Amino acid sequence: MSAIDPTGVVIWADGRLHGPTDALVSGVDHGLTVGDGVFETCGVVQGAAFALTRHLRRLAISARGLGLVPPDDGAVRTAVDEVLAFAPTAGRVRITFTAGPGPLGSNRDDDGDRPGTLVVLAGPATRADVGRVVRVPWVRNERSAVAGLKTTSYAENVVALAYAHRRGADEALLANTVGELCEGTGANVFVERGGELLTPHLTSGCLAGITRELLLEWGAAEGLPVREAEPGELRYDVLDDVAAGRAHLATTGSIRNVTPVVALDERAVPVGELCQAARDLFARRQALDVDP
Ligand SMILES: Cc1ncc(COP(=O)(O)O)c(C=O)c1O
Repeated sequence: MSAIDPTGVVIWADGRLHGPTDALVSGVDHGLTVGDGVFETCGVVQGAAFALTRHLRRLAISARGLGLVPPDDGAVRTAVDEVLAFAPTAGRVRITFTAGPGPLGSNRDDDGDRPGTLVVLAGPATRADVGRVVRVPWVRNERSAVAGLKTTSYAENVVALAYAHRRGADEALLANTVGELCEGTGANVFVERGGELLTPHLTSGCLAGITRELLLEWGAAEGLPVREAEPGELRYDVLDDVAAGRAHLATTGSIRNVTPVVALDERAVPVGELCQAARDLFARRQALDVDP
């Protein structure tokens, strides 16, 4: 069997590697029918899934948030090792865990204590040095039942990212329902303003990004003026200051790491010094430890 498909994706499910056309998931899997599942994406650094321990911790938090029993950490680690052994040049590892087979509606037919469906993939990733972002007309609901959980219900991110791509950008920046800056479709955001780098508070409804968390920790340890903003401190209209060159942006995420922003709404904006320093600091610390 060739487990590697022409797009370079290696698939693990049910305890073994699979070919790209193998049937893996039931048509009634609740992850497939209603998006009842959770996931993680890790970058690959020195052949290993970067920050895997933190990603597994967040996977468990997301699963419990949906009322699912998280998958066994050891089983996921074994699957990650197997796909990476088969795809040593992969750029990303994706772990997906769903509720497993279920009814066609949103209800589950048990207490969620069945083993769910676990699929682990290794695949390519492209990393850009700089980012281009756009404002979008949609908001993140910070009071959603799944706020802060990394669920497979990502359709609103798909729509917002397609909007960004049509405008030559690689990320869309969302406000929340009360006009605060929140996050991107697959990235957190940092604002450089007044000599410091600020990222929206978790109460904005953003994901507790692993890259965000590491940048806050490493920045504090190394004297970079970076911190989590107070709730409400970063309004969405701070992006007007970015457009005017009075503030700067960086986005963070497991594939992009820390990416200074060079364009907002299809217009060039200047890169901030602290954004560049944050990118360099992250790259240096990441190379020292693949599971910080
Ligand atoms: C909605 C959202 N926000 C933020 C992030 C960044 O998180 P991390 O740094 O853990 O990749 C992601 C990652 O995919 C995401 O999906």
